[in-house]
Order: sequence, then C-alpha cells, then structure tokens
Amino acid sequence: MPLAPDTIAEIERIRAALPNTRSALLPALKAAQREQGWLPRETMAEVAERLDLDPNAAYMLATFYTMLHTEPVGHYHLEVCRSLPCYLLGCDAVIEALKERLGVELGEVSADGLFSVQIGECLGDCPHAPMMRVNDDYVGPLAPDTIGELLEILRARAGERVRGLAADPADGPPPNEGPLHYSNAIDARPLSTVRE
Ligand code: FES
Repeated sequence: MPLAPDTIAEIERIRAALPNTRSALLPALKAAQREQGWLPRETMAEVAERLDLDPNAAYMLATFYTMLHTEPVGHYHLEVCRSLPCYLLGCDAVIEALKERLGVELGEVSADGLFSVQIGECLGDCPHAPMMRVNDDYVGPLAPDTIGELLEILRARAGERVRGLAADPADGPPPNEGPLHYSNAIDARPLSTVRE
C-alpha cells in the first residue's frame, strides 16, 4: 500500500531537517510504520526511494531494530525484556502468562488482532524489572498474576479501534488512547504491579 500524503510530507520534513538522507532513514521508517502498523517490503522500498537510498539499506535497518516490524503485529505490540535483571526477576513467567492468556506463541498476533508478543533485549529500564514495552510505552514491574489486569486495561483502551476495523476515520482519535506509564496515565485503575 503506497504511503499516505501526510506520511510522505512527514518524511520530507525529516529529510529537510537532517544533514543526510541516511540519518533520516530511521525516523522515516518509524513514520511509515506509524501509518501502516508494520513495514512491508514495498513500504521499506518506497521510504528508501524517497530518500534516494538503496532499498537494502531500509531492509537492513528494519531487521536490526526491534522497534521496527517487518511482519504484521498486533494493535498493541508487547516486547518483554529478557536480559539478565528482568530474567532474574521472573520475566519467563510473565512471558508464559501472556502466551497463555492471549493464545499466541512468540511472534504471533492474537485472534482479535489486538496483541502480539516478542522477546527483546534490555530496554534500559532495569529498575522496573521485569518490564516490557507496550508500543512506545514502558510498563513494569510485571507479575504473572496481574498480567490479565493489564490486558483488560489495554482492551478497554482499544475499544472498537482495532487496526483495520475502525468505524469511521472522521470519528477522530481513539477516546481512551493515551500514554501508558507506570502510575500516572493509568492511575484511574492502577496496576497492582506498579511500585512508586
Ligand atoms: S534488563 Fe530488562 S530493562 Fe534492563
């Protein structure tokens, strides 16, 4: 699917703001992913072409960074850290709880399209281990027995706005969508796993 005019304009802004097109490649790919949810080969090629770069440069970058997705992901992509501090504090039990509750294996998308789960390396937030990234937000410390609560909060936020099923773009942004931080954005229903 070709990029939308707004995304193309954003890529042009990024290109103009950075000293060379190779520097613009990562933010341009992120802009394309924001629009399409993931990065099909033809999308990577279009981004590269708009920056006068080889399509392989986009592919190599997209397959290096876990925040870029070269396969479809859920509306909420859950990247659970499995580096040492998170491992020692029980990330494997969290991963198993997610897989069981969502009925997915790693790398799969849940049947409702809402969730996908992936293992990642240290996300730089070890004091909140075990933790994970939920799209662009960090959540932790996690515990297997409260994972269900977190998933329900995310389901409530998504409402009917699962990608591809949005009722009408003219409705505007999702009413409950917002940053998901440890204890502020979800303070109406604080997670019992959250520590100050
Ligand atoms: S080890 Fe998990 S965030 Fe650093």
